[in-house]
Amino acid sequence: MSLLQITGLRGGYAAADEIVKGADLKVEAGEIVALIGPNGAGKSTLLKLIAGLLRPSGGSVRFKEQEIAGLGAPAISRRGLSFVPQERNVFGTMSVAENLEMGGFIDGAHARKRMAELYERFPMLSEKRRAAARTLSGGQRQILAMAIALMNAPDLLLLDEPTAGLSPRAAEELFGTILALNKSGVAILMVEQNALEALSVSARAYVLVQGRPEHEGRAADLADDPTVRDLFLGGKAQPMLRGNGDSSNKGTGDFT
Ligand SMILES: Nc1ncnc2c1ncn2[C@@H]1O[C@H](COP(=O)(O)OP(=O)(O)OP(=O)(O)O)[C@@H](O)[C@H]1O
Ligand SMILES: [Mg+2]
Repeated sequence: MSLLQITGLRGGYAAADEIVKGADLKVEAGEIVALIGPNGAGKSTLLKLIAGLLRPSGGSVRFKEQEIAGLGAPAISRRGLSFVPQERNVFGTMSVAENLEMGGFIDGAHARKRMAELYERFPMLSEKRRAAARTLSGGQRQILAMAIALMNAPDLLLLDEPTAGLSPRAAEELFGTILALNKSGVAILMVEQNALEALSVSARAYVLVQGRPEHEGRAADLADDPTVRDLFLGGKAQPMLRGNGDSSNKGTGDFT
């Protein structure tokens, strides 16, 4: 039995407008899986349906052998599935420490211990614990966003475009951090626009096209697949796949 097993998942923002149209997908315990696809394919929507931020209109989401489709985001998070959204994933005016506390509200008793562990894992966060989140660099903010999600010690982390807006160098560093996190035992389902890099750190991948995973396989095979290459990894696509080269972090604004 897979850690996460999705069958025929459907849903969107309005009943009449289905974005995800019958998605099948799985993540094994400890696995790192990439989800790639063109703009507007429904990647973020799929993650929101899994995390309980949107209510599925059909299909099944089994996590640790229990049905979680239809549960709200807090209940899903308590079961060990954390989500880092594409945008507005830190509170800019709050300090690093306060941001982490927000992630620990679920499990107050263990929050202090967990924070200490995360400071040890990410010394940068410890050094900046009193700094407002908006003063962090783009890469540092993404680490903070992941650390918030790690406060409840998840078994599975959903990451929506963690390297969006980062410089190539910062993106590479962040991929290193994600890999290390995965090696520590956290399974990861990651949406990425840096498709080649995402495939290079992943075991398996799905290509989502118009709300359905159209291609699935070992990441290395997909990276070599001519159809996939033509669609997303074309010869001169490399600079584009790197994002817009802008390090102003439009994706990590403030909630307020
Ligand atoms: N909050 C929303 N309300 C209504 N429709 C939305 C909302 N967010 C996204 N959509 C629509 O859902 C469709 C899929 O969007 P989604 O954000 O899931 O795509 P994506 O694959 O994540 O794209 P990107 O690569 O640009 O992040 C798009 O047609 C989009 O316009
Ligand atoms: Mg998206």
